[in-house]
Amino acid sequence: MLEKVRKLAEKVNKYTPKSEEDLNRFRVEYLGRRGVLNGLFSSFKRVPNEQKKELGSSINNLKNLVQKKIESYKDFFEEEEIGGDVDLSKPVSLNNLGSRHPISLVRSEILDIFNRIGFTISEGPEIEDDWHNFSALNLPEEHPARDMQDTFFIQTNPDILLRTHTSSVQVRHMENTSPPIRTLSPGRVYRNEAVSARAHCIFHQVEGLYIDEKVSFADLKQALLYFAKEMFGEKTKIRLRPSYFPFTEPSAEVDIYLGTNSDSDYRITKGTGWLEILGCGMVDPNVLENCGIDPKKYSGYAFGMGIERIAMLKYGVKDLRLFFENDIRFLKQFSSL
Ligand code: DAH
Repeated sequence: MLEKVRKLAEKVNKYTPKSEEDLNRFRVEYLGRRGVLNGLFSSFKRVPNEQKKELGSSINNLKNLVQKKIESYKDFFEEEEIGGDVDLSKPVSLNNLGSRHPISLVRSEILDIFNRIGFTISEGPEIEDDWHNFSALNLPEEHPARDMQDTFFIQTNPDILLRTHTSSVQVRHMENTSPPIRTLSPGRVYRNEAVSARAHCIFHQVEGLYIDEKVSFADLKQALLYFAKEMFGEKTKIRLRPSYFPFTEPSAEVDIYLGTNSDSDYRITKGTGWLEILGCGMVDPNVLENCGIDPKKYSGYAFGMGIERIAMLKYGVKDLRLFFENDIRFLKQFSSL
């Protein structure tokens, strides 16, 4: 009898069901009321006591084997059934739709606003050379203003660096195009700064450049006022403060008026109500000349702004690092925009 059980186990091991019905037949054959196993258990009763231990455990093993076989193929056929039953006409679930990153939202909003007054888009490399990032922009070697921009250099070659601002793209654009030029250059920039709520080693800027005959500071002011109103609302006021950039003369920083009504407006404007949003100025004649444009014939303005800064203001984000962490709880809040 032991031999019979061993042979049955071999048979069960080799068995592969071809369909769910086949498996069902197998189950009844072995586990059914009049099935193989019940037959074995009733013969077991008549076996002499000294053989019972060994035989009992081999019949139990056979039973486990049969049950395992049925279990494993049951899942297999069930899965196949689900697969076979897919309703291809059913609409897909939209639960996991992603959303646009706030930096990307603000970037396209800025581009749209300037696009409406005729600005095109131009881009340049993030790995730059000294000429495009500094020298052509009126920042010759040893110029103290280079220190303002904590630069990442590539390996030990001081000529190759990660661009510290998108102003490098205006140089490339002027070198390759002739006026009239009206272009916007968005992109990622890098600075060797400690990461904090207000600073990061990577961030995004948009550079604007307008070169033509007789472009004046009044044109610059008007374009920026238009931008501020489109971005922050019709009532937005701006003011220009004299400033210094090596690539513009005269230069200015632009503030928008937030007021001091709320605690947070009071805090971020240091009690003045005004907050700086960008730097700008009339392109320095040296820069035009460096880029092959005749400064006697043409003049122009340029401006540069940080996208994170605009996004923080627009959405009331208090910590710059949130834009880089990709925390879904933060990003989800922008899904309806
Ligand atoms: N490149 C400047 C910066 O990164 C921003 C800037 C200021 C750009 C004035 C300009 C400009 O084009 O005219 O801080």
